[in-house]
This record gives sequence, C-alpha cells and structure tokens, in this order.
Amino acid sequence: MLEIGSGTGVNFPYYERGVHVDAIEPNPLMMNQTKKRKDAAIASIETYLASAEKLPFPDDSFGAVVATLVFCTIPEPAKALQEIKRVSKSDATFLLFEHVRMDHKMLGKTQDFLTPAWKKVCDGCHLNRDTLELLKQSDFSISKVDSYFYGLFLAIECSNIKEVKRINIDEASK
Ligand SMILES: C[S@@+](CC[C@H](N)C(=O)[O-])C[C@H]1O[C@@H](n2cnc3c(N)ncnc32)[C@H](O)[C@@H]1O
Repeated sequence: MLEIGSGTGVNFPYYERGVHVDAIEPNPLMMNQTKKRKDAAIASIETYLASAEKLPFPDDSFGAVVATLVFCTIPEPAKALQEIKRVSKSDATFLLFEHVRMDHKMLGKTQDFLTPAWKKVCDGCHLNRDTLELLKQSDFSISKVDSYFYGLFLAIECSNIKEVKRINIDEASK
C-alpha cells in the first residue's frame, strides 16, 4: 500500500497488522515528526522523502493508494495523478479524503476569493481545488463519493484503469 503526503503520520495507527505501507512526504519537517507514530504502528511502515509528482517506485507496484487532505497542496496535481496511475497495479484501489471547491454558488466563490491569501498562510493549500474533476480527467474509475459538511469534504473511492486493459478489451472484440 502507498500513502501520499503522509505528513506527521496521522493515518499510521489505522493500518492493520500484516499490511506494508510505503509512505511518501516531501516536507522534512513533517517527516521528522512521523517517527513516534511509525514506531507505534502495528503495520510495517517505510517512509520516503519524495513528492507525489515524482514517485520513487517502479510501475505497477501497489494494490492500494491512500491520500488524505493532500491534493489541495500538491503543486502539480495532474502530474501526481499520472504518477499514482503509473505506480498502481491495474484495478488498484485509490482512496481519498479531501476538501474541495464547494458546489454552492456563494460558498464556492468565497473559497475562490480566500484561496490566494489562504495559500500563503496554509503552506500552499488551495481551498478551492476541484480534486474530483481532476480525478475524472485522469481516467480513474470512480465508484463512490461521500460528501460531508455541504460538500466541503469528499471521501472518494476509485480504481485505476490501465491502458493495457482497454487494449485487451479492444483486441478481444475483434
Ligand atoms: C494538510 S497536510 C495532510 C497530511 C496528512 N495526509 C494528514 O491527513 O494529516 C498536507 C500534506 O501534503 C504534503 N504535500 C505537499 N506537497 C506535496 C507533494 N507534491 N507530494 C506529496 N505530498 C505533498 C505536505 O507536505 C503535507 O504533509
């Protein structure tokens, strides 16, 4: 399993025994704070100082990928999604919990207005990023979207579709 932008390791206690997690995080200050949670975790966890846009793993490495409150901050989210697709196996599960631009005229516009200042004080976080739309454009197959706080937060379940699979289907129909 791969975790993107693990920060201080808040998700580490939730991984089960017997699971191996490779967790990437580009901020060394965040990474320094993960040690306690890494040592306390019952899962086996390996951390890497790396960005989602350039993942240090070979193609087709992971059966599951997790990202929580990360896509708002990634400077090049489309590139990150390409990388996640690359390192994921075909049909790998990709689970996200993200805050997004709200589908509400006034609140969405308020997010747009706040984003320039918000980015400066919140470490590059885009309050108004439409991560669900980015996922759709990246050709992930979205199976479930749960919305919280009037659509401010989304829990998204999707899976990876590999190009090779579509080629096989095309070939099979000949
Ligand atoms: C709001 S924190 C969330 C941390 C953690 N996932 C959580 O749920 O508490 C956002 C995280 O995204 C990380 N991040 C920023 N740019 C990134 C990138 N290009 N690739 C991966 N992670 C990134 C930040 O360093 C930070 O740890």
